Order: sequence, then C-alpha cells, then structure tokens
Amino acid sequence: MRLEPSGRTFTVRPGETVLEAGIREGVGLPYGCRNGACGACKGTLRSGALEYGDHQERAISAEEKAQGRALTCCTRPLTDLVLEVRELAGLKDLTIRTLPARVEKVEKPAEDVAVLYLKLPASERLQFLAGQYVDILMKDGKRRSYSMANAPHDDTHLQLHVRRTPGGAFSKYVFEEMKDRAILRFEGPLGGFYLREDNDKPMILVAGGTGFAPVKAVIEHAFHQGIDRPMILYWGARAKADLYLHDLPIRWQREHANFTYIPVLSDPLPGDEWAGRTGLVHQAVLDDFRSLAGWQVYACGAPAMTDVAKKSFVEERELPADEFFCDAFTYSVPAAAKP
Ligand code: FES
Repeated sequence: MRLEPSGRTFTVRPGETVLEAGIREGVGLPYGCRNGACGACKGTLRSGALEYGDHQERAISAEEKAQGRALTCCTRPLTDLVLEVRELAGLKDLTIRTLPARVEKVEKPAEDVAVLYLKLPASERLQFLAGQYVDILMKDGKRRSYSMANAPHDDTHLQLHVRRTPGGAFSKYVFEEMKDRAILRFEGPLGGFYLREDNDKPMILVAGGTGFAPVKAVIEHAFHQGIDRPMILYWGARAKADLYLHDLPIRWQREHANFTYIPVLSDPLPGDEWAGRTGLVHQAVLDDFRSLAGWQVYACGAPAMTDVAKKSFVEERELPADEFFCDAFTYSVPAAAKP
C-alpha cells in the first residue's frame, strides 16, 4: 500500500481494510464512523484494484466510485495499491488502546441525558485530541461510540454525554441497569474530528443535541491553550430542556471575549418562554453570514443536520469544503451511535 502525496508505504494483511492496516501502522488516516456510513475516510485510487466492501450510498456514490474514489474503512486491496489521501499530522503520535474505566459520577442535567464521569486506572492516561471519541465495549460484544466531552489536558478522566434513545443498548444500560462505580471497558481515542490548531481562522461550531459533547471539548481546549480565534457556538435543540448545559456556554460568553453563544430551538414549548432564535440550527448560520469564505466550521449532530450544513455552507456561502469538519451520529448503523 502506498499513500500519495506522502509516499508512505505499509502492508495490508489478509482480511484487513486499508484503514485497519493504517491504524495498526500508526498512519493518521482520516476517518469517522469506520463502517462505511459517513464518507470521512474517502481517498482517490491512483493505481491497483480493490473491493469496496459494505458501505452506504450516502458515504460514497456510484459516480464517485466511477471516478476512482474509495472509502479506506471498508476497502480491501486486491493488488498493490496507490491511494491519494489526506493524512492527519495531529493523529500520528496517538496510540489506540483498550482500557477499563470506573464510573465515578453520573449527572442527569435533563430527563433524557446522562453525563458520565469516567476515571481511568491510577497509572493510566489517555492521550487524545479535543473532539475525538471512544468506543464503549459492551459485555455482549457490541460497541457504542461516544465523544469525549472533556478537553485533553484532563487525561485521567473521560466525560461522556449519553442521550436515552429507544432501543439504544448502552443508553438503556446507563439509565436502567448501571450500578454506582461500575467498570466499563473502552477503546480509543478514535475519530478525525478535532480542533485544527495549525490555523488561525475564526470558527463556527454547530452542535445538535448531544453533539454538544465534542464541541464542548474543542472549546474548552481552545480556552485552555489560550487560543484567541473568534468562536461562535450555534447549539440547536428542540426545546429549552434539550440545551442540557445551557448555563455553561452562557458562562463562557461572560468570561471569554472571543466566544459567542447562539442557542437555537426548533420546537420551543410554551413553558420555555423562549425569546431567542428559533428554527433549524444550520439555517441560523445561513441567516447570519453572507459568506463563510474565511471561516472554519466544526459540526456535530445527526447526519441530516451535518449533511445539509456542509452542502449549504459550501455551495451557498463559499466555505472551502476542506474547512468543514464534522462528526455525524450514525444511529442507523448500530456499531457507531455517537456521541
Ligand atoms: S465511511 Fe469510512 S469512516 Fe465513515
């Protein structure tokens, strides 16, 4: 396997996907869902033959495949391959590990959201980038992906935001069965959604529901690093109670001159007495900006939101496509319901 333009080579073992081999070799290949649902791992085949494996049409279209595009997360080589793909400098030194963690505290800031505070074993640290996620390894072999809501300077703890979802295996466990001080196992850090620090463009952060979790990590990391790039957070939810940590970004706004908070409700309840913005969260951004040409956008939420945000920001507001970073929940694919 050879990557362009870096020229880096590695061997893909029988049965492995290109991405699995890349992860094993410590290559910083970009990815999101690791199961053919999001398109984040797309590259371009320059030579060789491959099999595409299972994937969703939404992640790569027949037309893109005809143009030689391929998803590294489900592609298996049939011959030697040359693949052109963007490599992530920031992920190079991270090791993906499987570790236990103890549930130290659980808070329920809303009826259907639990905030889990996990403590790593005393001798362990988890090195990660702000915005990445972990896979919780469940006893029955299932995996559930959750973004880390804490910034990486606190690397002895993990904070996860778990929304109760009908039929959600881990959320059912958290809300109905989990005992105090339960031990969980997880694999991580994972994912290519993280703050690009080699850039000084102002940032728009778009969160839908518990998509706030990785966005919170990115913002708290930026504060911790003293990054003074302007940051505008648009947090979209149905009703006020769904902005389950509403007071936190209000406090950030008070304390940091470079941070602005714009909550947007799609379905406020009469009892909310909501005088703020309403409608869809990506539309609020479109309403506020004639051009996003000089911006970076970080978006996390349901694919319906992140897909339409990317399309409209790029096609209607001049956002360069490679300045849009997203982490989509993929509820339709059981292996990766995020966060
Ligand atoms: S489609 Fe490959 S990582 Fe999501």
